[in-house]
Amino acid sequence: MSAVPDYGTGHRDRVALISGGSKGLGRLLVERLLMDGWRVATFSRSANAFVKELQVTAEDRFLWEAADLTDPDSLRATVRTVLRRFGRIDLLINNAGVLHQELFLTTSAKQTSTLITANLLAPITLAHACARAMTKQGGGQILNVSSINAIRGYRGVAVYSAAKAGLDGFSRSLARELGAFDIRVNSIVPGFFDSDMTADVTERNKERIQGRTPLGRLGTVYEIADAVLYLISPGASFITGQTIVVDGGITC
Ligand SMILES: NC(=O)c1ccc[n+]([C@@H]2O[C@H](COP(=O)([O-])OP(=O)(O)OC[C@H]3O[C@@H](n4cnc5c(N)ncnc54)[C@H](OP(=O)(O)O)[C@@H]3O)[C@@H](O)[C@H]2O)c1
Repeated sequence: MSAVPDYGTGHRDRVALISGGSKGLGRLLVERLLMDGWRVATFSRSANAFVKELQVTAEDRFLWEAADLTDPDSLRATVRTVLRRFGRIDLLINNAGVLHQELFLTTSAKQTSTLITANLLAPITLAHACARAMTKQGGGQILNVSSINAIRGYRGVAVYSAAKAGLDGFSRSLARELGAFDIRVNSIVPGFFDSDMTADVTERNKERIQGRTPLGRLGTVYEIADAVLYLISPGASFITGQTIVVDGGITC
């Protein structure tokens, strides 16, 4: 019999880069990974009180940079900074995303380009830069945060859905290429959870989502983070190229 998997301490001193770690799911993942002993780098467009506090209280294990998903040079520069500061990248979580709800017929070409760039091209750019470092190190992991919009149709989010579906396809094919380098690549597919991104969703619409959800309630950001933490744990060491749906069953 092999040893019982180590779900927590196996990550001590490993390095994670999480996009969009200042708020929402990204913020929770930054906190949880720091607690589990990871060194954590993150970026967002602006630093908030959470980031500023960690820059003081976790100075030796935490790094924040300003970068924008729509500026590929800033993403590559961030990866270089992380490698200079921590010397390696064991885990990339492509968490940051941009949601813009508008009917397709009125969506401008500029808005379309921004949504595809931020939600698809940016994660691909980061994966490219990080995977190169991971192959040199002898392994790593890439976890892409997708959405149930990738697997079910919803009005007003056609371009966002296209980007997230593209991200899932990217995860699957990349897993095929990078498996030989001991790099796992997966997508997590969350259903609705409360965050700044969904602050405009009305109570009535939340009730509708809840009503269509087999478990009869909305999920929490903690439940999404738990699934992410499982996927990046040694307990999931044989899972790659998969899209794991965490949505209370709404898409089943
Ligand atoms: N919330 C949901 O119901 C839900 C459901 C399914 C999937 N998701 C996915 O889950 C992920 C996290 O969502 P969330 O709800 O936690 O989001 P959130 O609360 O809006 O946080 C987004 C994070 O990304 C950063 N960010 C946004 N635009 C950026 C840009 N252009 N460049 C760099 N950083 C940027 C934000 O910081 P700044 O604003 O300072 O840049 C923030 O740190 C996303 O990929 C989203 O698509 C969310």
